[in-house]
Amino acid sequence: MIAVIGSLSTDFVVETDILADRGETVTGRDFHTLFGGKGANQAIAAARLGGQVTMFGCVGDDVFGAEILANLKKEGIDSQAVEIISNQSSGSAHITVYQADNAIIYIPGANQEVTVAYLKRHQEALLAEEFFVIQNEIPIESIQYLIDLAQSHGKQVIYDPAPAIALDESYVEKCSYLTPNEFELNNLCPNASIEEAIQRYPERLLVTLGKDGVTYAQQADRAIQHVPAFSVQAVDTTGAGDTFTGAFAYALSQGLPLKEAVAFANGASALSVQKLGAQTGMPTWEELIASEYFQEDWLTYFEKN
Ligand code: RIB
Repeated sequence: MIAVIGSLSTDFVVETDILADRGETVTGRDFHTLFGGKGANQAIAAARLGGQVTMFGCVGDDVFGAEILANLKKEGIDSQAVEIISNQSSGSAHITVYQADNAIIYIPGANQEVTVAYLKRHQEALLAEEFFVIQNEIPIESIQYLIDLAQSHGKQVIYDPAPAIALDESYVEKCSYLTPNEFELNNLCPNASIEEAIQRYPERLLVTLGKDGVTYAQQADRAIQHVPAFSVQAVDTTGAGDTFTGAFAYALSQGLPLKEAVAFANGASALSVQKLGAQTGMPTWEELIASEYFQEDWLTYFEKN
């Protein structure tokens, strides 16, 4: 039902109370090797909640690639389409967590092999899915190809344009939903304020504002809607946006209306930031429904499926 096409990485995470200046060495607090990659994170966020997820991507022929594949399997994600690329390292992200916020250096490695040729090789499997979930850690030509493919086959595209790259604004119109933050929005709709941009693409462009929630414009009258975020004590915000996108895709696949799907995804995100690492805190369905962020009346949508 949900195809996630994107990056698979290992996150090398340093926790520190002091940031190093150029040329300086400081002693940090801790180090962790964790699963990450925006694609994998979004796939796991949707799968943990109960989504039927197929992953499309590439890993290298190294120990990290083997572990990434085992992790996808453990999470119940169909990874038959994930290719192992010879003589290539798996994708990695080098993350510094400082005061619950992060700075990331991303090395694509095998993720850059998610080319248009790769997508053509897996086109049949891709077109068997209803929802395409895409982010920006694979080549831009592949993103454009996927959006065009989805549009010509009546698929729903949920596009998280992170990290920020310049993509022609015409692609916004072709997606069902986009979930940029303020900075990423600037690349999609240069020279437009948030209000102008969301009113230009009502119920399509959903701007994520971190602790200030999500804003979008209503289709009928372009009135601005604001879905607040939940106030939590964050331990690590890495992957919060990915949890949002994965949970949002799952909620839409179950038929939740837009506003409820956004609130559902905000709840998943609120739980995820309370643990270190992108995937560690992503809630299971049981954890989400037991939390204060879940609304009983949403159950009717899930019970139908
Ligand atoms: O969105 C968070 C992710 O982006 C991390 O898991 C890391 O892999 C980075 O690329």
